[in-house]
Amino acid sequence: MTALQHVKLGTYYVVHMPEPDDFAFWRERARQLVQCDVPPDRVAWVEPGGNGSLFSHGDKRLPVPEDENRVIRASKRFLTLARNVAHHSDPERFSLLYAMLWRLQSNPRILEDKADNQVRRLEDMDKAVRRDAHKMHAFVRFRMVETEGGGEHYVAWFEPDHHIVRREAGFFVRRFANMHWSILTPKGCIHWDGETLRESGPAQKSDAPQGDPAEDLWRKYYASIFNPARLKIGAMLKEMPRKYWKNMPEAALIPELVAGAQKRESDMVDAGSLEFEDRPETLGAIDKAIHACRKCPIGSLDNQAVMGEGPADASLMIVGEQPGDQEDQAGKPFVGPAGQVLDAALETAGIERRETYVTNAVKHFKYVQRGKRRLHQSPTAKEIDVCRWWHEAERAIVKPKVVLAMGASAARAMLGKTVSISKARGEPIALEDGSELWVTAHPSYLLRLDGDAKAEQERLFAADLAAVKERLAELAE
Ligand code: URA
Repeated sequence: MTALQHVKLGTYYVVHMPEPDDFAFWRERARQLVQCDVPPDRVAWVEPGGNGSLFSHGDKRLPVPEDENRVIRASKRFLTLARNVAHHSDPERFSLLYAMLWRLQSNPRILEDKADNQVRRLEDMDKAVRRDAHKMHAFVRFRMVETEGGGEHYVAWFEPDHHIVRREAGFFVRRFANMHWSILTPKGCIHWDGETLRESGPAQKSDAPQGDPAEDLWRKYYASIFNPARLKIGAMLKEMPRKYWKNMPEAALIPELVAGAQKRESDMVDAGSLEFEDRPETLGAIDKAIHACRKCPIGSLDNQAVMGEGPADASLMIVGEQPGDQEDQAGKPFVGPAGQVLDAALETAGIERRETYVTNAVKHFKYVQRGKRRLHQSPTAKEIDVCRWWHEAERAIVKPKVVLAMGASAARAMLGKTVSISKARGEPIALEDGSELWVTAHPSYLLRLDGDAKAEQERLFAADLAAVKERLAELAE
């Protein structure tokens, strides 16, 4: 029987998948079956190499729908999930997806039911596939092989848990476009010669080279960037499971580096290299230094430090909490949705943003990764306190007359203690350097509200900005 045949046994249908990751094929057949009202328990989805012999006789065609235009419900969310789950190695994935598609026809919101067993299983599969792809991006290590003509070909061995190799090829083509390389895996191989991507069948580990001189160099580099002060063994094992260590030259060093970490950390403290020395005296120097700051763990996430922005002699300094996703990408404060609320309120109050120095209490974006999204996490009191070093340095240079702290994190950053916004707002608080602190709500708080509560908070926010504008005018006289 060829891969493309579907076998009908009475009212029982079998779909033979041509490839283990062929989502488009599954989608087309699933649509056809739903249009013909074939319930999930009447269909078997058989992977290549799967046991289809149980169904090896009978009618060889799927039913043809009476109305090929009959609309099938499949939300965007479901399709995204299904496209990913199709790469999982669980032999039941296509049946499960079909069962979900079937249920979506009568309950379009079924995916929202987090207690539903099938929904949970699909979401777990989705996560597992993403994680596998992430591991492949991070842990493929090429070893150089000299070709007969004296050229260089790079070969890597990788053991994916799921059928992700073909799908992830694009990542490696983009990243190593000018190299000739092969990634060998037990689930199939991919090869790039600088122009064309080819595929071949499964390989064995012994097909891949076992080490080359470049690895010594890489090991030395890894040892030199390994920072014992940032060692979190649990997190490291989670990110870099032992399973991948054998293919990574630097992993041979890990036990030794971990064992020596404590001593190296105390040596670093003794040598003063864990602390920054003198406070930078120009905004440019602060900008440079914050990018290297690892005083708290936020700086070690995949983000960039975001420096304050505005004239170095501004009378008004506005302090927010921390950059958000968009600010992190742009490298500028308040350019995302909260920035738009702020800009609109400043305009209404008659305050020119370009005459204002806008900065944040915490310089790096703190988040948790959820799939492709990075979800904002509030900084802890300790993280805010550690970051005071930087905005105090900015304040010492800008010397604003008025500082407006937006939200509880910014207020804490300025005062060194937690205050309630509703109690602190509306009155100036004298700061040690002679400037005045005004406290208000954070614009993103307004974004989370609606109805009367939103209207009321917008009114209070506008009133706080108007008071700051008035105070600036008084101080300018
Ligand atoms: N929220 C903040 O507190 N700061 C920004 O820069 C953006 C959003």
